[in-house]
Amino acid sequence: MTKLFKKIPEELNIYILNMRQITRRSNLSVYFVGGFVRDLILGVKNLDLDIVVEGDGIKFANDFAGLFMGKVTEHKNFGTATFVLNEFLKIDFSSARREIYPKPAQLPIVSPGSLRDDLLRRDFTINAMAISLSTSRLIDYFDGVNDLRLKKIRVLHPLSFIDDPTRILRAIRFEQRYGLKIEHKTLMFLKEALDLKMLEKLHPHRLRDDLIIILKENNPDRVLKRIQKLAGFKFIHPALKVPAKTFSLFKSIKKEINWFKAGCFERRSMDYWIIYLMALLDSLDLNCVKKVCEKLGLRKGETKRILAYKQISKKSISDLSSSSLKPSRIFAILEPLSYEVILMLKVKYSNRNLKRHILEFLEIYNGMRVFVSGDDLHGMGLKPGPSYQKIFAQVLNAKLNSKVRTKEEELALIKSLVKKRS
Ligand code: CTP
Repeated sequence: MTKLFKKIPEELNIYILNMRQITRRSNLSVYFVGGFVRDLILGVKNLDLDIVVEGDGIKFANDFAGLFMGKVTEHKNFGTATFVLNEFLKIDFSSARREIYPKPAQLPIVSPGSLRDDLLRRDFTINAMAISLSTSRLIDYFDGVNDLRLKKIRVLHPLSFIDDPTRILRAIRFEQRYGLKIEHKTLMFLKEALDLKMLEKLHPHRLRDDLIIILKENNPDRVLKRIQKLAGFKFIHPALKVPAKTFSLFKSIKKEINWFKAGCFERRSMDYWIIYLMALLDSLDLNCVKKVCEKLGLRKGETKRILAYKQISKKSISDLSSSSLKPSRIFAILEPLSYEVILMLKVKYSNRNLKRHILEFLEIYNGMRVFVSGDDLHGMGLKPGPSYQKIFAQVLNAKLNSKVRTKEEELALIKSLVKKRS
């Protein structure tokens, strides 16, 4: 056992033990590769195992998955398979391969290869190391360990960013995540790729995937700052400028997310990355934001939340900023909005009243419902129809404004409303 092997997170032991047994039985050469090895060396916890098999990676994945109750998804064209056991454990298997890029920024053509071929096709030296499962030895053809020690990000060949422009964003992301520096020549290649507008040539869906990964980083603001410096953001939309004040928004987002988490307001899972995207696109008008969402192929629900933020009326903001506001109005403005939009409002506007109204909404009014039901109205002799919704809305407003508290008071209110009408 090498020292490195001992650093593997305990929760992976059982899986690795089984993989080693299959490896021994089948006489295959199997390796840990990529980010898992990099993070092991850095001492950063990473449960995303990346396995390369010199041979049939898909068969190996299925042999392995047969021992557990997980699901294997095969990608036959690439000779890869993904095993998902639960939300915490995902293992990627692949057959060692060689890659040729037929055209810049297009997906590569793959053919079977050796471990060395497989490592040579990768982005940076720090991501091109392997550990043999059978011998536990580290394989480092390109001096990745030394680059980690020197805190350098280095490509394996000059055309790396042209072949795969997502690597421009990856280099910046790893640089900021681990406090590394893009090495001099690599930076030159990266800038050449930017001059050739390679990010613009990338398929927008690939751009989206890498952009979302950046926005999910612990400190996306640092990565975005560096992108701003090296590339600007015109590759997302030609009119997109990200002024200094947007960078202060990024800082506030982190603070507000922590505030939100500490308050335990969360009733459903949140996509925090969407808040960063809203801020990033803040200087664009509604139409341009729509175009960006379409181009990136964001999901319906994601687009809806981003556009909802752009469409909030000035009247709603001015009402939320006023010193006294009826709870029913706070509810009417905030209840239809997603948590992502509500947090973004708190980030964007420094007005104290607005912040207080948001807190009141989250603490008291969020999700408030009336006690009475359709059956109650029916029991009072009211015919089912659109009038039911109107009555419920009036009762809810009364409840929000503390005019009624109990079910009996709600029923009494309904009686008086019906009386007034007849
Ligand atoms: N890789 C590459 N070029 C890319 C994407 C990935 O060479 N454009 C290789 C790298 O060797 C990388 C590995 O595939 O380490 C796995 O990719 P991925 O899971 O995207 O990245 P990680 O390095 O694991 O990074 P993260 O910690 O962000 O998951």
